[in-house]
Amino acid sequence: MKPEPTLLEADNLTRHYFVSQGFLREKAVVKALNGVSFTLTRGRTLAVVGESGCGKSTLARQLTMIEAPTTGRLLIEGVDVASNGGARNPTIRRGVQMVFQNPYASLNPRKTIDSTLQEPLFINTALTRAERREQVDAMLARVGLRPEHAQRYPHMFSGGQRQRVAIARAMMLGPAIVVADEPVSALDVSIQAQILNLFMDLQESYGTSYVFISHNLGVVEHVADDLLVMYLGSTVEYGDKQEIFNQPLHPYTKVLISATPAIRQQDRKERMRIIGELPSPLNPPPGCAFSPRCPFAEQRCHNEAPALRKIAGRLVACHVVGR
Ligand SMILES: Nc1ncnc2c1ncn2[C@@H]1O[C@H](COP(=O)(O)OP(=O)(O)OP(=O)(O)O)[C@@H](O)[C@H]1O
Ligand SMILES: [Mg+2]
Repeated sequence: MKPEPTLLEADNLTRHYFVSQGFLREKAVVKALNGVSFTLTRGRTLAVVGESGCGKSTLARQLTMIEAPTTGRLLIEGVDVASNGGARNPTIRRGVQMVFQNPYASLNPRKTIDSTLQEPLFINTALTRAERREQVDAMLARVGLRPEHAQRYPHMFSGGQRQRVAIARAMMLGPAIVVADEPVSALDVSIQAQILNLFMDLQESYGTSYVFISHNLGVVEHVADDLLVMYLGSTVEYGDKQEIFNQPLHPYTKVLISATPAIRQQDRKERMRIIGELPSPLNPPPGCAFSPRCPFAEQRCHNEAPALRKIAGRLVACHVVGR
């Protein structure tokens, strides 16, 4: 099989926020994203995982061009959208859509579903009203909703149905890439699987590529092809999902997997516990950011930040593994 061409390439993306620390004090820098790189090909899903505050949503805002990265390159179909006004290109912007965690907040409560779903077509295409209506009905059916739902308002739906509407809106213009930021985290567990299946069905029909963000490894298990594990704004492990699940290498990935009973392997009974809290990106620890919490940390880990190295077919940022 011929390898698919790269659709999106993130090259050393950083995003720093400058925050005030009170009157007349110098502004502090929050390094929310600290040099993240990956590639995404057509029809594939990259899952981005890591605990709260590690920079997942910040990454999503860079990928969807809601914000510009502080440094780094973001190539979408070969165009660098991080510089030279590339992000203003309407064709490129249309090609990357976002699904948020809370569909109630992301849908306009005063608009019917029909008008919410027609809007992107109205703005971006020359379709007639009748043609737009037809496309809305077709998309409602694709996401498992009925034609009569078109005339309803967001509050008249359940959480799962509202997320179906939000997914329909993201899909209306046939985007090449959908960035989904915790799209099932606000839903009941029984509904989560249905929405994950919907994502996978749509991917099969349209060949859409996903960047699928979640703090829960159990959620990404079935949807992901590749996995990127983040810790305090940086990549700690990146590679094929199955290989990482079978044999996690970075101590942080091991902890995450061991904390997810659904994917913890039967023969690996011991639970690894993570101690302490995620440090603040305002005041990151020296050396490896994970070293204060790492059961395997050596002196070097506290002094020197590890670079990503290729080990066992994936990239790992750790001094200790693979020696
Ligand atoms: N606009 C901002 N100004 C200042 N700091 C910010 C801003 N946005 C995010 N941060 C900080 O950047 C870090 C990463 O935040 P981000 O929201 O990307 O994390 P996350 O991985 O999405 O977390 P969660 O799982 O809770 O959604 C956090 O420390 C956050 O406080
Ligand atoms: Mg977030």
